[in-house]
Amino acid sequence: MNYKDLNTPIRTIMTPGPVEVDPRVLRAMATPVVGQFDPAFTQIMNEVMDMLRILFKTKNKWCFPVDGTSRSGIEAMLASVIRPGDRVLVPVYGRFGHLLMEICERYGAEVETIYTEWGTVFDPAEIVQKMSEMKPDIVALVHAETSTGCMQPLEEIGRACRSQDVLFIVDAVASVGGADVRVDEWCIDGLIAGTQKCLSVPSGMAPLTYNDRIEERIDSRKKVERGIATEAELQSQNPLFIRSNYFDLGMLQEYWGPRRLNHHTEATSMLYALREGLRLVLEEGLENRFARHVFHEKALVSGIKAMGLDLFGDPDRKLPTVTCIHVPGGIDADSVRGMLLREFGIEIASSFGPLHGKIWRIGTMGFSCRRENILAVLGAFEAVLIRHGVHVNRGEALQAALDYYTQPVLKDPVEA
Ligand SMILES: Cc1ncc(COP(=O)(O)O)c(C=O)c1O
Repeated sequence: MNYKDLNTPIRTIMTPGPVEVDPRVLRAMATPVVGQFDPAFTQIMNEVMDMLRILFKTKNKWCFPVDGTSRSGIEAMLASVIRPGDRVLVPVYGRFGHLLMEICERYGAEVETIYTEWGTVFDPAEIVQKMSEMKPDIVALVHAETSTGCMQPLEEIGRACRSQDVLFIVDAVASVGGADVRVDEWCIDGLIAGTQKCLSVPSGMAPLTYNDRIEERIDSRKKVERGIATEAELQSQNPLFIRSNYFDLGMLQEYWGPRRLNHHTEATSMLYALREGLRLVLEEGLENRFARHVFHEKALVSGIKAMGLDLFGDPDRKLPTVTCIHVPGGIDADSVRGMLLREFGIEIASSFGPLHGKIWRIGTMGFSCRRENILAVLGAFEAVLIRHGVHVNRGEALQAALDYYTQPVLKDPVEA
């Protein structure tokens, strides 16, 4: 046979996802598969729901993963909530706002967008003002815009949505597990996370949560099944039924709830992975984990600045899990990334659309967010930039990061 054993290189992954998977998660994935209705498995499902409630800081009954990448969770939420003709406001401040807009349009919403320059976020008052003019049914917004490294404050917008009876749906794919997200306190009705970023679990599940405001909407859209329905029910077939089977949260909640109604075949090994990822988060403690992300982000930023490079984006709205760096004029950004990967086995990211080739993005997420990775990326980045003819302050980056790490008053939250 020509196909050899799998033998992928060991990489230092400093992108905004996917990131390095915690070895404990990889071990959990090798656990033997059991049937999805086996009590041994349904217990695992319940445990995952419980741990997600803690992660999301919510009392919501519904907290479970959708099988698929993060956008499957986004699509499930929007497909299940949007009724054709619903008015949806999507404030866009980067690439993933466009994704929300596109999915809303596909499900028949009347979408209105407002834009702010990439690298900034919205003044919440601007969104609230737009809501009072437009009177939307739903506001869909990204919390952590991975493409620009910015984080949108949500609380004021959430409170306005609640008081105007607007549903507030949030993509928190790049923040959950790395930065504070408070579903109940910030009046978020539906929220979607990702596994492959700050949870350090492979891509393949999208944990989400929603409250009774959304549950009511979903219940009102239940499809009456042929063969199961009575004649009268068939006559009044619900015209607003959810147009996707895979993403029908009404069906998914019957599978995750006590009735355990069959829907899809659960991605067993991914659920083991998510369970272990969540256990790791709770063992570390949410607040410690957020502090660890900020701690290493600061070390990275001190090194980048000491090198003489400029950061991209509003520093007051910077995401602790993504650092964006301006590419110096005349430098081939992809060639720098290529050399980092080839020579050092380190992966950093480019960005999208107008920012491609203009910024590099370095992720500090989950298991990848640790001291040796920060120091490795700084040292290698400097060497590669010098090879590309960039005038950097030689030797300064690592010294600045080491100064930061060895300050006597600072303690690594992991070691503290
Ligand atoms: C903020 C945000 N939303 C959504 C997505 C889409 O996730 P996926 O590629 O897992 O479908 C990403 C992925 O990078 C993201 O960063």
